[in-house]
Amino acid sequence: MGYKVVVAGATGNVGREMLNILAEREFPVDEIAALASRRSLGTEVSFGDQTLKTQDLDQFDFTGWDIALFAIGSDATKKYAPKAAEAGCVVIDNSSLYRYDPDVPLVVPEVNPEAVEGYTKKNIIANPNCSTAQMVVALKPLHDRAKIKRVVVSTYQSVSGSGKDAIDELWDQTKAIYNPTDEVAPKVYPKQIAFNVIPHIDVFLDDGSTKEEWKMVAETKKIVDQSIKVTATCVRVPVFVGHGEAINVEFEDFLDEDEARDILREAPGIMVIDKREDGGYVTPVECVGDFATFISRIRQDSTIENGLNFWCVSDNLRKGAALNAVQIAETLGNRVLKKG
Ligand SMILES: NC(=O)c1ccc[n+]([C@@H]2O[C@H](COP(=O)([O-])OP(=O)(O)OC[C@H]3O[C@@H](n4cnc5c(N)ncnc54)[C@H](OP(=O)(O)O)[C@@H]3O)[C@@H](O)[C@H]2O)c1
Repeated sequence: MGYKVVVAGATGNVGREMLNILAEREFPVDEIAALASRRSLGTEVSFGDQTLKTQDLDQFDFTGWDIALFAIGSDATKKYAPKAAEAGCVVIDNSSLYRYDPDVPLVVPEVNPEAVEGYTKKNIIANPNCSTAQMVVALKPLHDRAKIKRVVVSTYQSVSGSGKDAIDELWDQTKAIYNPTDEVAPKVYPKQIAFNVIPHIDVFLDDGSTKEEWKMVAETKKIVDQSIKVTATCVRVPVFVGHGEAINVEFEDFLDEDEARDILREAPGIMVIDKREDGGYVTPVECVGDFATFISRIRQDSTIENGLNFWCVSDNLRKGAALNAVQIAETLGNRVLKKG
C-alpha cells in the first residue's frame, strides 16, 4: 500500500520537479493530484509516463489524502496549508511561511531527519531556503568532526530560485541584448539581470542585510546548531538553474583539508569533485538534474587558526526545493507513517 499524494503548485518550477522526483525515486504513490490556481485548470503536467491534468487548489478537498507537497508561495500557503493540515493531510511546505515557527520542524533529511517527528503539532513540515539546504548538507559532517564556530558565505544564485517569471526575464533580456529594439525592462528584479549580477535577494532589513541573508543565518541555526554564527551575502547571477556558494568556515578544532575532503566524500548527499587543475571543480550548469550537492575547491584558510574554504554547487530546484521535500516525505514515511 502506498500514499495518496498532492502536489500544490504543479505548474511551477518546483512543483514540476516534485512530480519528476516522486516518479524518479519511485515514491510509493497510490494516487496523485496535481493542483495549481484556477488560471491553470486542466493544464497538463507529467508524472513519470503519466499525464495529469491540474485541478483548482481552491476547490480541492484534502480529506483522505496523506501528504501534500506545497510549492505555491507564502500568501497562498497561508490560505491553503492550514486547510490541508486540518483535513489530516501532512503538509511539506516550500515557502518561508512556517520555517521559523517553533511548532514546525525545518528539515534537511541528511542533517536532522529525526526532526520530522515534530510535525504533529501543526501537521506541517517546512523545507528550508534553497541556499541553506545545500550549505547545511556540507556543514553538518564537518561540524560533527571539528565544531563550527562561524561561517562566511557568498552565494551566486540562479534565476530559477525566483520562479518561472524570472526565467523568462533572463531569457528575454538576453535575447534583447542582441536586438536592442526589443528592450526588456526589469520586472521581477530591481535591475537588469542579463549579463549582470545583483547583490540583493528578497527585501532589505533594518540592519542593511537582506531577508535572504537572514534566512541563511536563522535556518542554519535551526537545522544544524544554534551556536553557529553565519554571515551571508546573497547575489543573483544570470544562470538559469544551479546555485553556487563560496563558503568559509572557522572551527573550534583544527581540521586538515585532506581529512575534510575524506569526511565530505563519505557524507550523505555529497559528491566531492576536487582536482587542482583546469576544470577540476563543478559549476552550476553541470549540477542541473542531479540529486547531489557538489563540493570543490576544498582548501585551508591560512589567515585563521582553524579555517577551511570550499565551493558548493547544487540544483536549487532539486536539493534546494523539490528533492528535499520528497526526501522529507520519504523520511516521514519510513519513520512515522510506515505505509509504503
Ligand atoms: N525555485 C526555487 O529554487 C525554490 C527554492 C526553495 C523554495 N521555493 C519556494 O517554492 C515555491 C514555488 O516556487 P516556484 O519557483 O515553483 O514558483 P513558480 O514557478 O512561480 O510557480 C508557482 C506555482 O504556484 C502556483 N500558485 C501561485 N499562487 C497560487 C494560488 N493562489 N493558488 C494556487 N496555486 C498558486 C502557480 O500556479 P499557476 O501556474 O496556476 O499560477 C504555480 O504552480 C515558493 O514558495 C518559493 O519560495 C522555491
